[in-house]
Amino acid sequence: MFFKLFLFLMPRKVKEFFKKLIKNILRDEFDKKYLPEVEMKIDRTEQKLFHQIKNQNFQLSKLAVTDKNSKIQHYPLSVYLETSLKCNLKCIMCPGHSFNKEDKTKGQDFGILSPEIFKKITPLFPYLDRCILSGDGEPFLNMHLLKYLKELKRHQIFVGFITNGILLKKETATKLIELGVDQITFSIDSLEKELYEKIRVNAKFEILMENIKYLFSEKERLNGLKTNITIAAVLMRSNYKEMRKFIKFASDWGINQVLFNPLIRYPDDRYLRFYDDNCLTEENLQNLKTEIPDLIDYSRKLRVDFVLAFFPGIRDLPERKKFKGDIICSEPWTTMFITWDGHVRTCCLNETSLGFLKEDSIENIWFSKKYQDLRDEITSGKIVNPFCVNCIKTSRQDFIINEIEKILFSMREFLEQTW
Ligand SMILES: C[S@@+](CC[C@H](N)C(=O)[O-])C[C@H]1O[C@@H](n2cnc3c(N)ncnc32)[C@H](O)[C@@H]1O
Ligand code: SF4
Repeated sequence: MFFKLFLFLMPRKVKEFFKKLIKNILRDEFDKKYLPEVEMKIDRTEQKLFHQIKNQNFQLSKLAVTDKNSKIQHYPLSVYLETSLKCNLKCIMCPGHSFNKEDKTKGQDFGILSPEIFKKITPLFPYLDRCILSGDGEPFLNMHLLKYLKELKRHQIFVGFITNGILLKKETATKLIELGVDQITFSIDSLEKELYEKIRVNAKFEILMENIKYLFSEKERLNGLKTNITIAAVLMRSNYKEMRKFIKFASDWGINQVLFNPLIRYPDDRYLRFYDDNCLTEENLQNLKTEIPDLIDYSRKLRVDFVLAFFPGIRDLPERKKFKGDIICSEPWTTMFITWDGHVRTCCLNETSLGFLKEDSIENIWFSKKYQDLRDEITSGKIVNPFCVNCIKTSRQDFIINEIEKILFSMREFLEQTW
């Protein structure tokens, strides 16, 4: 009674102030009590939706590959984003670093994949299974990297990247784990300091080791169980005898996978002499062929995943799985490689531009006649694209097949999740 009288006598403005205050308090109570639950429900509904879209897209892609259909209805399963063309190192085998000289005259954004280009790719996100944030340069030079990672993870996409690891700052390492990055591959071409620094010009062996160690400690501290830390090495005459050592190192450090690539001859005249002097010889390859079964056993014993990418002449080993279809390369049905400035290619080895994101949408490019023609070329077996010819000649399609299997496998895992 007294309270009613008090309200009645209160001036209007004061009354409204109190009403607002009570409303706010009640809303805060509601927010505290129910909002997290509502948000969780929205998140789960969004996840379910992505799951259904990705599942359907995957089924359509499988049909298109098995039917050798070049006029497709599905979207890519996998995208490589060249987040940076610039690099902090000048590795002896990599033609990419020669771009560094150019960037001084072209401004600081030259070579960096911009948020505008990233935005052009977002229509693919609901369909995408995986995205690798690396191309020809060093991804940690891209200042937007964590923002890109966050957006991709929001769409339930497997995100990984390949790095020289030298620029990995502590706060970035923490953020990567917090944001749930799925895979980080460190390129180490030797475990001997002297040789490593001779190959990876401008890098310091101790810095790389410290950075990997820190990432592991953050993974443990933050319980980032899903982040896979792996290593990769380019095998040349100088380091190919270190393979066993790499496997042991991986096992000692808790690294899940070691990836070995042979030195690739990029079509760059300045490197021809270097390739002649450093590519594995026939004799090296024969030695490898006899050692590999042992290395496979050794890596199994140490529980390290041993991946040998496109080595000519040794792809007939029984351990190598074969893709069930008979298309020699499925990249044009599954994958896009996007350069820092927005050119779309099928993969990092094929420099043919199939479209330009500054002039066209990503969907138009993916469903374009140009992409379709390349698919037709592959199914016809009369391949004329010089990059594809080079790839097939050097047996690189084996690696691509492995990649597809990985995609299919990760999709299968993804599909098996219960919601
Ligand atoms: C071009 S780099 C870009 C990512 C990062 N800067 C790095 O070094 O990991 C990607 C991978 O290509 C490898 N690579 C560079 N030149 C190569 C060549 N000629 N043949 C084979 N692999 C090469 C690197 O060792 C690295 O593992
Ligand atoms: S760090 Fe990577 S991109 Fe840079 S020069 Fe070395 S291999 Fe090439």
